[in-house]
Amino acid sequence: MKRIVQITSEETLSIRHKVMWPNKPIDYVQLPNDFEGRHFGYFKNDILISVISLFVENNEAQFRKFATLKEYQGKGFGSELLNELMRISAKEQLSKIWCNARINKIDYYSKFGMKETNNQFIKGGISYVIMERIF
Ligand SMILES: CC(C)(COP(=O)(O)OP(=O)(O)OC[C@H]1O[C@@H](n2cnc3c(N)ncnc32)[C@H](O)[C@@H]1OP(=O)(O)O)[C@@H](O)C(=O)NCCC(=O)NCCS
Repeated sequence: MKRIVQITSEETLSIRHKVMWPNKPIDYVQLPNDFEGRHFGYFKNDILISVISLFVENNEAQFRKFATLKEYQGKGFGSELLNELMRISAKEQLSKIWCNARINKIDYYSKFGMKETNNQFIKGGISYVIMERIF
C-alpha cells in the first residue's frame, strides 16, 4: 500500500541524513527555512521511504532535499513523488519549479521536463546546476 502525504520537516530529517550527508551531523540537513516549506513523503506499507521539500517564493517553487532510502531507490518511487509535486505546483498555478541539481542527476530531472540553466556552482565538494521547468 502506498501513500503520498504532507509530512513535517522533522519527519524528513532521518532520510535526508542517511541518504545525502551521512558523515555530517544531523543538523547539517536541517534548513534554516524548513519551517516555511511544505514537506512531502512517500509511505510504502507505512514506512517512510522517500522525501522532498517544496519552498515557494514569488510564485516560483524550489524543491530541495529529495531523497529515497537506498534500498528503495531505482524502483520508481522517487519519480512518483516528484510527479506529484509537479502536479501540485501546476495546479497552484506557480510559474515555475526549479532545483539545484547534482550534476549526476541532470538526465534524471530532464525526464520531468526540467531544463538546465547556465547557473552552475560547487558546494560541499559537489557540483550543481540549476534546472527549471516553466509552467
Ligand atoms: C534522486 C533520488 C531521490 C531518486 O529517487 P528514486 O526513488 O531512486 O527515483 P526513481 O526510482 O524514480 O528513479 C531512479 C532511477 O530509476 C529509474 N526507474 C524509474 N522507475 C523505475 C522502475 N519502475 N524500475 C526500475 N528503475 C526505474 C529511473 O528512470 C531513474 O533512472 P536514472 O537515474 O538513470 O534516470 C534518489 O536516487 C536519491 O535519494 N539519491 C541520493 C540523493 C540525491 O542525489 N538527491 C538528489 C539531489 S539533486
